[in-house]
Amino acid sequence: MRVKPCSPPALLLLLLAAGNTFLATAFFIPDRPSTNATARRSLFFPSTFDEADQRFQISPPHQFIQAGPNDHRGPCPGLNSLANHGFISRSGVDTFLNIIKASNQVYRMGVTASAAAAVLGLFGGNLLDPTLPISIGEPPDNVGLTGILGGILAPPSGLTNTHNQFECDASLTRCDLYICNDSHTLQPKYLQPLLDLYAADSNITNSVAIVSKHHANRIADSIANNGLFFFGPVQMIVGAFTALQAPSLFANYSAEHPEGIMSVEGLMSIYGATRHPDGTLTWTRGSERIPDIYYRRPGALLYQWDLPVLLPQLLEMWALYPETLSLGGNLGQPNTFFPLDLGAFTHGAYSLDDLRQPDGLNLICFAYQLVQILFPSLLGNVNDLLATVLTEVGQLTNGVLGTFVCPRTMGSVDMSVLDKYPGWVKSKTKKGIL
Ligand code: HEM
Ligand SMILES: *[C@@H]1O[C@H](CO)[C@@H](O)[C@H](O)[C@H]1NC(C)=O
Ligand SMILES: *[C@@H]1O[C@H](CO)[C@@H](O)[C@H](O)[C@H]1NC(C)=O
Ligand SMILES: *[C@@H]1O[C@H](CO)[C@@H](O)[C@H](O)[C@H]1NC(C)=O
Ligand SMILES: *[C@@H]1O[C@H](CO)[C@@H](O)[C@H](O)[C@H]1NC(C)=O
Repeated sequence: MRVKPCSPPALLLLLLAAGNTFLATAFFIPDRPSTNATARRSLFFPSTFDEADQRFQISPPHQFIQAGPNDHRGPCPGLNSLANHGFISRSGVDTFLNIIKASNQVYRMGVTASAAAAVLGLFGGNLLDPTLPISIGEPPDNVGLTGILGGILAPPSGLTNTHNQFECDASLTRCDLYICNDSHTLQPKYLQPLLDLYAADSNITNSVAIVSKHHANRIADSIANNGLFFFGPVQMIVGAFTALQAPSLFANYSAEHPEGIMSVEGLMSIYGATRHPDGTLTWTRGSERIPDIYYRRPGALLYQWDLPVLLPQLLEMWALYPETLSLGGNLGQPNTFFPLDLGAFTHGAYSLDDLRQPDGLNLICFAYQLVQILFPSLLGNVNDLLATVLTEVGQLTNGVLGTFVCPRTMGSVDMSVLDKYPGWVKSKTKKGIL
């Protein structure tokens, strides 16, 4: 039996259409991300301040309450904190739209960026429920789906169990799944080096650079220690995207520092970590907390964390630390990294150098074309209607990008190129959805 959700895909379409309109505006910024690093950096730090708009007052019913053992919490500190304050359900299971809304309203993550993340989050969500609920952690226990799962669908897995769909290797503070058998618990041994990088740059002149360096170090660590390390195109983009959320969304955009300072205090609070007098770090599940005095990003569209900010940040990361573009994976043993042949994967449409072009156009074209190719086919197995809608969204995107003339078109990708990576193959076999 198939249950076809009706209204949410329409909402999804609207939302993504709105996002696409915004995407269009991203390309009309006069100062596009450029090879001039000063000009590029000016795009990712806000320059305005508005006390009333940005001071984020926490009051009941949004006071911090530590999550209980039955509440779902997972690999994303941002979503965990939203749940610990009741901006999404404190249970940790909430709808697709509420998750996007809360990310936008509390942290000023732009609607395009949060919709893109939430669409990926659907890999862990319940596609049979018309409100598209997603558990931000472990699988929800009360979904009542037994009986209607006809072998097509895996039960909703929760974000925690989306390895290589969303959750990926070389995260800032989480362990690789195939090293620890746990990729959602914060590991103090990975948070510490990030704090050390901060301590070494007391002025915090460019927090994007600091996090980029940590991301590069984490990739090197995975290559050296995880025989099943996998860093395909989706993982490369997700890894960079989530890493950049820390300096962009955890930072404190106060009157003194309208450009935003990612203070160690704020970082520790939102990550839910504690530093003890002897210097050791600990983390307690369910304790991610929005700082009592916290100034969020300005609300104006161009200052929210969306494509006009994210693109130059990505290009900065890749310019400073080209190893963060290490597409590929290990071949079963540590230190057997074998680069992905992007040309073969994209049937000749893109090379790595194409993605690094300073105006970011190839990058955005590649990411959008990849989503158009991957999503209809992956979700098509699950729900024909959602697949149709996503295909329509894809066409819509094409229209928008068409006016900018994507330098290349990519008609399909060769997924079999990924099968030489045992970490990818292992994550593929345990899932119903792929
Ligand atoms: C639509 C909303 C969102 C979804 C679906 C989402 C989902 C995720 C997932 C699945 C991961 C794990 C990725 C990995 O394995 O590295 C992640 C990581 C992360 N997310 Fe989110 N997220 C969302 C919004 C946010 C927001 C609003 C923030 C910031 C306030 C945030 C900050 C982060 C950070 C910093 C990481 C990296 C964690 C680490 O490894 O230390 N996310 N997110
Ligand atoms: C780079 O951009 C900055 C700020 O926009 C500008 O002042 C500077 O002259 C530019 N440098 C070059 C070499 O174009
Ligand atoms: C990995 O973790 C899962 C979930 O916590 C558990 O059921 C399983 O037994 C663990 N496997 C190993 C090899 O530790
Ligand atoms: C911090 O900034 C000050 C003034 O701009 C400069 O003198 C100092 O060298 C900087 N310190 C570091 C560690 O970058
Ligand atoms: C944010 O900035 C304000 C004003 O300077 C300061 O009082 C507050 O402690 C800062 N919060 C964090 C988490 O750094």
